[in-house]
Amino acid sequence: MATTRIFIVEDDQFLGNIIKKNLEKIDSLDVTHFLTPEECLKNLHLNPDIVSIDYLLPGMNGLELMERIKNYNSNIHCIIVSGQEKIDVVIETYQKGAEDYIIKNDNAMINLENSIRRLCKAVSLQQENEALKEQIMDRNKYNTILGNSGAVLKVLKLIQKVEKSNIMVLVTGQSGTGKELVARSIHYNSPRAKKPFVTVNMGAIPEDLIESELFGHEKGAFTDARDRRIGKFEEANEGTIFLDEIGEMDLMMQTKLLRVLQEKEVTRIGSNKAIKLDVRVIAATNRNLAVEVKEGRFREDLFYRLQGFLIHLPPLYDRGDDVILLSKTFLSDFCRENKMPNVTLSKEAAKFLMDYKWPGNVRELKAVIERAAIMSENNIISPEDLVFANS
Ligand SMILES: Nc1ncnc2c1ncn2[C@@H]1O[C@H](COP(=O)(O)OP(=O)(O)OP(=O)(O)O)[C@@H](O)[C@H]1O
Ligand SMILES: [Mg+2]
Repeated sequence: MATTRIFIVEDDQFLGNIIKKNLEKIDSLDVTHFLTPEECLKNLHLNPDIVSIDYLLPGMNGLELMERIKNYNSNIHCIIVSGQEKIDVVIETYQKGAEDYIIKNDNAMINLENSIRRLCKAVSLQQENEALKEQIMDRNKYNTILGNSGAVLKVLKLIQKVEKSNIMVLVTGQSGTGKELVARSIHYNSPRAKKPFVTVNMGAIPEDLIESELFGHEKGAFTDARDRRIGKFEEANEGTIFLDEIGEMDLMMQTKLLRVLQEKEVTRIGSNKAIKLDVRVIAATNRNLAVEVKEGRFREDLFYRLQGFLIHLPPLYDRGDDVILLSKTFLSDFCRENKMPNVTLSKEAAKFLMDYKWPGNVRELKAVIERAAIMSENNIISPEDLVFANS
């Protein structure tokens, strides 16, 4: 269970300590005691889930403090602890959003404890919901391949075909066409979805580190190997490894990779024990691997193995009206994320977007649209707001 953070505001040091000690007996509670409202307000950035507030405090009363707390974050649960039994005070407290009103009598401690236990359950449910919501948002954010053009529908059909199998997939296409998006989409729609999706960018790792990065090493395997390290293949066990920019791999590593793909096992550098693995491999490149093979830079046998299932992404320019569909989606996402009013595309701007060649494909479109949203006047994007890389 995640920790629930509780603030106690009580100007009586002795009483505050007793409450704190008592509450600390409850599991996964993090309790802090403050003597004054000011101290409590100064520490709200620590994000308490629950604040227990004494009614009579120096400087302001408990209700005023509660209002200030609710103004800061209305999700913070407040409990008022008071010697007052007047019904109009109790009603006012609830009306202002308190979760509970505890009267200072012989049962006060046990009542406060029960109240906090009940709120903890509510908080933990709330936290779970937030986490779930984030997961769903993440999945949608990273895995929705937009497009209604024939070219993209064909790609979606291919993805559906391979999702449920373990077949190796090679994704090709120019830079920014959505290769990584396709790889994620396959993984998150496959039976492996709850297992890791591990990305390795072959172009970004120095040559002498690739082997240890992929297969791991034992302590002392080479000069810099101070500790044992798990490689990306092992990390991806039961999940998917995405070998991005596979065309950048040198011939020696290609040979080693081919062996791993054939044997379905890896051996850490400095070890003589092979480890059996169950990893799905998806590779991507914006190079033409057939040409690389012809020119001797890519092993033919590895090429055929990777080609097992080929998904080629068309350039954005060949996707017709998808340009507008993507633009509108990127626009509304961007405005929502940045809490801006909705911005729309003028007819003239839409025509510009349709006519442009898009060398940087979808990634470039996204950048152009986001900049234009910021530059736009009166919440409408006009052609002057569109700045292209090579114009
Ligand atoms: N069909 C699509 N629908 C929605 N968003 C997309 C689509 N295609 C690409 N994108 C977005 O465009 C950006 C670039 O996509 P991605 O990183 O997958 O491209 P890539 O082909 O891997 O590029 P590179 O070759 O430069 O690595 C990402 O933000 C991605 O979410
Ligand atoms: Mg990529």
